[in-house]
Amino acid sequence: MVFRFLSRSLLACLSALLLLLGTALPAWADFALPPLPYAAEALEPVIDATTMSIHHDRHHGAYVANLNAQIRANPALARLSLEALQGQISRFPMAVRNNGGGHWNHSQFWAVMAPEGQGGEPSAALLAAINRGFGSLEDLQTQFNQAATGRFGSGWAWLIRKRDGSLAITSTPNQDNPLMDLPGIERGTPLFGLDVWEHAYYLKYQNRRPDYIKAWWSLLNWNEVNRRYAALS
Ligand SMILES: [Fe+2]
Repeated sequence: MVFRFLSRSLLACLSALLLLLGTALPAWADFALPPLPYAAEALEPVIDATTMSIHHDRHHGAYVANLNAQIRANPALARLSLEALQGQISRFPMAVRNNGGGHWNHSQFWAVMAPEGQGGEPSAALLAAINRGFGSLEDLQTQFNQAATGRFGSGWAWLIRKRDGSLAITSTPNQDNPLMDLPGIERGTPLFGLDVWEHAYYLKYQNRRPDYIKAWWSLLNWNEVNRRYAALS
């Protein structure tokens, strides 16, 4: 009798606890910070290990945490992939736009970089598209550098593939990106994007953003860019 009473009490307590947890806990495990695909010091000397650690762990980590904190107020978030969210970002408040964009942008940023000498070269197909769109790889780099240098304040420079198959260089402010359904954004699928927020380079380059941009090309992971381009073609 006593045993049955205790069992029932225990079950009641467990049920209450589960109910409490179920309503108290947000579904914040939906978005996760991806690990860096290399060691923090692997991109030196172009990007120093301290910048990489702070950038990934704290800045990107904060975007993920802040995005997850938005799920309770915006339950539709829990049903969307990170990429799908970008294309519907206009439905959501600014906190989702900033942090959802920050999560997607940084996730691609780590992937399109590799230690110097390990990034490979543009594929024949991609190089042909670059030559068609810009004249040469050097011309693409010149135009991209202008877009990255000219972005006032914080933002990103992108090489995108547009719906008609052509390539274009564009730039977005803050944590916006070319996947977002927002007015004023030249839309397309990014092949790579460069972070020109000061947090990406200031420790080593201070105010010399053009030096960071110029040096960054030696880190570009063409193998990953080729893969992204081939997947779209
Ligand atoms: Fe960043």
